[in-house]
This record gives sequence, C-alpha cells and structure tokens, in this order.
Amino acid sequence: SAAPRAPRPKPRLGHNTPMLVLYGSNLGSAEELATRMADLAEVNGFNTKLGPLDDYVGKLPKEGGVLIICASYNGAPPDNATEFVKWLGSDLPKDAFAGVRYAVFGCGNSDWAATYQSVPRFIDEQLTARGARAVYPRGEGDARADLDGQFQKWFPAAAQVATKEFGIDWNFTRTPEDEPLYAVEPVAPASVNAIVAQGGAVAMKVLENAELQNKSGANPSERSTRHIEVQLPPGITYRVGDHLSVVPRNDPTLVDQVARRFGFLPADQIRLQVTEGRRAQLPVGDAISIGRLLTEFVELQQVATRKQIQVMAEHTRCPMTKPKLLAYVGDDDASGERYRGEVMDKRKSVFDLLEEHPACELPFHIYLEMLSLLAPRYYSISSSPSGDPARCSVTVGVVEAPANSGRGIYKGICSNYLSGRRVGDTIHATVRETKAGFRLPDDASVPLIMIGPGTGLAPFRGFLQERAHRKSQGANLGPAMLFFGCRHPDQDFIYADELKAFAADGVTELHIAFSRLNGSKTYVQDLIAAQKNRVWDLIGKGAIIYVCGDGSKMEPDVKATLMSIHREHNGDDAGAATRWIEDLGAKNRYVLDVWAGG
Ligand SMILES: Cc1cc2nc3c(=O)[nH]c(=O)nc-3n(C[C@H](O)[C@H](O)[C@H](O)COP(=O)(O)OP(=O)(O)OC[C@H]3O[C@@H](n4cnc5c(N)ncnc54)[C@H](O)[C@@H]3O)c2cc1C
Ligand SMILES: Cc1cc2nc3c(=O)[nH]c(=O)nc-3n(C[C@H](O)[C@H](O)[C@H](O)COP(=O)(O)O)c2cc1C
Repeated sequence: SAAPRAPRPKPRLGHNTPMLVLYGSNLGSAEELATRMADLAEVNGFNTKLGPLDDYVGKLPKEGGVLIICASYNGAPPDNATEFVKWLGSDLPKDAFAGVRYAVFGCGNSDWAATYQSVPRFIDEQLTARGARAVYPRGEGDARADLDGQFQKWFPAAAQVATKEFGIDWNFTRTPEDEPLYAVEPVAPASVNAIVAQGGAVAMKVLENAELQNKSGANPSERSTRHIEVQLPPGITYRVGDHLSVVPRNDPTLVDQVARRFGFLPADQIRLQVTEGRRAQLPVGDAISIGRLLTEFVELQQVATRKQIQVMAEHTRCPMTKPKLLAYVGDDDASGERYRGEVMDKRKSVFDLLEEHPACELPFHIYLEMLSLLAPRYYSISSSPSGDPARCSVTVGVVEAPANSGRGIYKGICSNYLSGRRVGDTIHATVRETKAGFRLPDDASVPLIMIGPGTGLAPFRGFLQERAHRKSQGANLGPAMLFFGCRHPDQDFIYADELKAFAADGVTELHIAFSRLNGSKTYVQDLIAAQKNRVWDLIGKGAIIYVCGDGSKMEPDVKATLMSIHREHNGDDAGAATRWIEDLGAKNRYVLDVWAGG
C-alpha cells in the first residue's frame, strides 16, 4: 500500500500573543467559525485558546485579545452561552472589564427581525459599558443571506486592526490552507472503525413511522409528512414544548456519487491524520470508510461559499474551467451578482459545482477540510408524556422537490433520513428543552391561542393531549383556540380525526384555513382576523399566544394581524401596537417556535 503521508509537525511561529476565541452556538455554525479562526490565529503565531462562552464566566483575560462569535435563539443565548450572558447582565462594577480587548461577530438570521443579532449586540454593549475595549466594530452575519461572505469581509479587516493593536507586525499571511489540515492514508479493509460520540445524542428505537398526508383517493397529496415515534431510553424525560434534536445521515446515493467523484468507493478505508497543532473536527487516527465519513460527519448539500469556490479554482488547471470559477469570487459587483444569481439563489453545493466542472481537480482532503460538520436538526415534539412518558413523537415535513440548481431532486437530509427509517431501526437524538417560554401554563384555566399551520401543528398536538389529560384528572380548562392551516381537506389535514375529537370533547376550538379549497385561498391570519372579537376577548383575559412553523412569512403575517386587531380596539398608531406585541413577548404571552421555511 502507499506510504503514509503524515503531515510534518509545525514549529510555533512566534510572538505568542494570547488569543481567546469564544463561541455561543447550538447548531455548530458559530462554533465552526470560532474553531477555524482559532486555527488561523494559531498558525499565525498566537497562543490560542478556544471554548464555549460559558466556560469563561468571570474569567475574561486582560492579556491579549478575545474574539467572540455568538448566535441568538429567539432573542435568547445559545445553550452554551446562557451563564455568560446572565453574568454580563448581572450587577457588575462599571470597570469590571477594564483592560479587556475584544471583538464580537454575531451569527444571526434576519427572519427573526425583532431579535436579529440581539445576543451578540447585548454582549458587545455590556462589555463596552463595563470598560472593555472593542478593537473593531461588531460584525453581523445573516444566515438568510451570505453569512460566510459577510464573515470573510469582516474578519480580515478586524484582524488587521487587531494586529496593530497588539503591536505585532503580522498580516495573517499564513493561512491554515498553506498546509492542509488532513492527510488521507489508505489502510487495509480489515481495520475496525472507531465508535464516535455524537455530541450528547443517544440511541433511540423507532416505534412508528406513518404517513400523515392522504396519498389515495381522487385528490391525493404529492407531499409527505411523517408521524415518527421513538422510544426514549431510561432517564430521558421531556415536557410538551420541548424539541427532539436528531443526528441525521446523508443519503447513500449521494454519498456514493461524492465518493466516486474523488475516485473512491464508499467501502474504501482510509485513516485521517491531522497536522500537528491544528484543531480537527473529523475523526482522526483510526481507520474509517469513506462511506461512513461522508454519511455521518459532513454536510454535503450546503451552498458553496465564495471562499470554497476560490479554493476550487486554485485546484483547477483547465484554462476553460478556471476562469468560470474565478468569475464568482472577484471583489467587483459583477462577481458578487454572478455568485448570488448562479450559486446562492440556486443553492449549489461544492459537489454540484464539482459535477458541473469535471475539470476541477480538488483533492479529497481539501474537500473534507471545506465541509461543515453535519449538524443535528430540531423537531418540535408532538406528543405529551402524560400518555407514555417513555415514548415521544415528532411530525416531520419531508423536504423533497426539484432542486433549485436544476440538477435532479433536492432531498433535505434529516427529513428524508427520518422518513426512511423503519420500525425497529435506531436513530441518534437528544431531547432539548425549549428556551423560548413555549410552555403550557401550570394553571389550566389560562386561555390559549395556538397558531400552527402545516408541521407547525406539532407542539399543539402535545399541548392538546396534555390538556385532555388534565381534564380527565378533573382540571377546569380555560378556553383554547387552535388555528391550523393546510392546502385541502382531502390532502394534508394532518391528525384530522384526533383534532376533531379534541374539539368534540371541549379540549379546544378548531379553526382550519384551507389554502386550496374551491379556489379560495385562506390562511391562518385570515381566520384570526375573522375571529378578531373572540381573539381580542381572550387576550384581554390573559391568553397566551403561541405561534409555530414558518418564521419567515407566516409568523410576521400573524403578528401584523394581531397588531391590526389591537389598533382597531385601541385606535392608536403602529408604534403603540408594536410596543404592545413586544411587551406581550417580554411577558412570555406571545411566544414562538418558528424556523425558516417551515
Ligand atoms: C426550533 C425548531 C423546530 C422545528 N420543528 C420542526 C417540526 O416540528 N417539524 C419539521 O418538519 N421541521 C421542524 N423544524 C425544521 C427542521 O429542523 C429541519 O430544518 C427540516 O426538517 C429540514 O431539514 P433537512 O435536513 O431535511 O433539510 P436540509 O438538508 O437541511 O435542507 C434544507 C435547506 O434546503 C433548502 N431547500 C429546500 N428546498 C430546496 C430545493 N428544492 N432546492 C434547493 N434547496 C432547497 C432550504 O432552503 C433549506 O435551506 C424545526 C426547526 C427548528 C429550528
Ligand atoms: C429556533 C431559532 C431561533 C433563532 N432566533 C434568532 C434570533 O432571535 N435572532 C437572530 O439573529 N438569529 C436567530 N436565529 C438564527 C441563528 O442565530 C443562526 O442561524 C446562527 O447562525 C446559528 O448558529 P449556531 O449554528 O452556531 O447555533 C435563530 C435560529 C433558530 C433555528
């Protein structure tokens, strides 16, 4: 077999300025940026430490610099930044951070308009207010647009100012890519794979996997929503409103295509060796098959960033292909437009571009280094533990449609993975507690207004099961309105029989909006407007309003409808209505469980 190509150990270059890189991250994108930047600082001679914000409560150093990369979740911090943010907001002296030099970059999504960048902004404001010095203005990345591109603009500018600040003559000229992160060594097929921990996820057995949309009759649905139940292992509990965080796997067909593009078969065994002193996120040191690596560890379908296309171009000799790739990455407006129109809007991945440009000779180890770690996906739990506390269900809308790239069918990774599991199969998942106040009140008499079209119905099924249980225990239920929306009663009125039974038993009132019935397009916000007097009455009686599902269009429309009801009754201006809904939010009476494209 080929001789091992272990990377050479690298002597530390340097000035040894301390650099602490901290992240607040639930799904890994802020952590990944932080890891890459720690790596970059390290190869450029900084003495680098990397960790979650919560590990540094009360411990911000005055030596060197602190780089903070943090996300927001419905205005709240990521789980591993909760304590840090609490600490920053506590009663600290005005000069608590005197001498600390920092820069903050926020990972956000402007779909969450009201709380866009709220946590990184808060961190920045608190640090400055208590005497720390921002060496460079806070940066904002918008996951709805081109987060990576925004970071690639912000970081070099910040780094330039920072190096001056630290009095070092350093230009961040060395990049980790000067020496590849990984070396790939073929090994004998008999080697045993290492078992790799999955970030807190545990094995759960699939107990049920059923189609919720109607696939037969005169007017069958072309889409798919799955009801999936899993067995919770001993010790794992949940409450209604919680999420199941699922570790997905890539589709075997896609894995096979990617492996072959690089001249491998999925069964080929390799061993990754990492360049000394570098931080690797992939499993190194043990033999692993190409198939397993591509299936379980990396995102294969994310939109290619301009940086990635730049690297592809560097590995392309073909005089026809190279300029085509370079045409996306220039600093001029035309290149930016071309990238947005041809790559971002069409959601082309690096693999899509490799297929489109067969002459690109990107080596496999560079490809691996480019990819993000496969992130878990959240699903709102759609059952209540009052039935059987050892099982829980999720309601999964299967993402499958002609690809925006024009190349075949796009299949969402996790929803298709879940859809394909059989009863008895094992998945890896974990229960995540909701942080957004999305809870049933202990007092069953508090009125509820639940708004959840499509798979946004999920948590409310759990709520209604819980209410039915409380009722059977003798509780006095307050009024509840459920607004659900779908296309057509024959197609995607999911859980219809259960919902009708809950309504018949007085557990909830049902208001169903059909968007494709008899030529009329009715959405949940239309029904809320039609029910405005009842809605207003319940709000006056202290109702909690819950919204679940699409955060980019549905939730803003619902919010606008509620605000117009407020204005109708109070006769005041838009500003007052905005303050009213924000105040409801602050009191956990307008609470969201929303996601992009729900
Ligand atoms: C708090 C929270 C709760 C959630 N609850 C639920 C729930 O109860 N039920 C549920 O079903 N989902 C829920 N989601 C969404 C869920 O987590 C996943 O995002 C969803 O299942 C898609 O994941 P995927 O891996 O299948 O798709 P991915 O592989 O992640 O692909 C999705 C991406 O592909 C893009 N895309 C979509 N169609 C195309 C196309 N035709 N061509 C190119 N690109 C395309 C989308 O814009 C999106 O960026 C929730 C999300 C959050 C954050
Ligand atoms: C449930 C949910 C809520 C979110 N809420 C906000 C928010 O309030 N403000 C914001 O700017 N971004 C919000 N985002 C976007 C994330 O902050 C953004 O995607 C970020 O890149 C995630 O970083 P991470 O992968 O490191 O956790 C939200 C994303 C999700 C999934």
